[in-house]
Amino acid sequence: MKKSFVFGVAAPEYNFIGREKETSRLITNFESGVNTILISPRRWGKTSLVSHVCGKMRDNSDVLIVRLDIFSCRSEYDFYNQFAAAVLKQTATKKDQWLENAREFLVRLSPMISFRPDPSTDFNLSLGITPKTHTPEEILELPETIARKRGKRIVVCIDEFQQISELPDAKTIQRKLRTVWQHQELTSYCLYGSKKHLMSMMFQSRDHAFYHFGDVLFLGKIPTEEWVKYICQHFADNNKTISEELASKICGLVDNHSSYVQQLSWNVINMTEDGENVTDDIVDAALDDLINVNESLFIQQIAPLTNYQINFLRALADGVTTGFGEKNIRENYSLGAPSNIKRLKDSLENRELISVEGKTVTLTDPVFLLWLRRTL
Ligand SMILES: Nc1ncnc2c1ncn2[C@@H]1O[C@H](COP(=O)(O)OP(=O)(O)O)[C@@H](O)[C@H]1O
Ligand SMILES: [Mg+2]
Repeated sequence: MKKSFVFGVAAPEYNFIGREKETSRLITNFESGVNTILISPRRWGKTSLVSHVCGKMRDNSDVLIVRLDIFSCRSEYDFYNQFAAAVLKQTATKKDQWLENAREFLVRLSPMISFRPDPSTDFNLSLGITPKTHTPEEILELPETIARKRGKRIVVCIDEFQQISELPDAKTIQRKLRTVWQHQELTSYCLYGSKKHLMSMMFQSRDHAFYHFGDVLFLGKIPTEEWVKYICQHFADNNKTISEELASKICGLVDNHSSYVQQLSWNVINMTEDGENVTDDIVDAALDDLINVNESLFIQQIAPLTNYQINFLRALADGVTTGFGEKNIRENYSLGAPSNIKRLKDSLENRELISVEGKTVTLTDPVFLLWLRRTL
């Protein structure tokens, strides 16, 4: 059954809106073998966009798409196992042929590896790629080898790619990846993730391995008018009515944050009776509910913070966005010495609690902001 509004998963087609320019840019890149880097804060719509693009590419039989999410990778070889598993599984010509695919492309590389005979066992576990069985290069070459054999292009899409820079010995790993990938002719990559400062550094700073690796795209927010159309339509599909004004209010309350627009709309539609019109009071109550259901998460987020860090958030909640090094602000909010400020910014940015644009600092999560205002 179609849901009126979705959040927490990649938006299915019925719930996917906008992103026309980004979609065609990605399709062009995928078809012509240009590497793409996609960056935005969490839950703005990277995974949904790539899913949408992959759906559009389904009819193009010249390009095979492989997708993997490396959020849970904790070591270099964790990554190679996931990478190889995804490539073998998703380029197999028939659904259950991954085993053959593995034999053809992996075993030939290293005859030492043994497979569990039952194809239904967890593929990731049964691959057993270790430094003893395979070199990183052998694994990283895998998509290119398969592409050549099949006479097709392959696009490997790696979600939560910022994780690569959190692995032990990250710089060396990145160099290995880049060295192999940059020579591939039939394989290209779409690397996407949050932690903007990390991702930007990886791809835009000269002394990083992935400098100039591909087309860098910063995903923005979906504009209010597109949301309003979608919200009004989906209420109408459910025999409920919302005015454009209130739909636009929903967007404003959560600062057009994709996931929260959907979640708040979901609350509102559930609080509205069949055949009824949405009122201002319903939207306010739905917002309260949104803050409440997220409260335990927010508490978890501030639990590990130092007093200085919490004070910094307090300043942001009061609307301060620049000038944290100035004496009166430091004193007002007890932020410590001027030398403390950069450390505070870096640590909060690394936790994705704040976004830093030049000198301007903002809270990344608009509902967290509302909660802070209510709580601190
Ligand atoms: N293009 C879109 N149209 C409608 N809703 C979207 C869109 N992109 C994102 N969303 C909403 O935001 C949520 C998070 O999107 P997701 O793609 O998982 O973000 P990210 O990968 O950047 O963390 C989705 O569950 C959905 O509610
Ligand atoms: Mg995602």
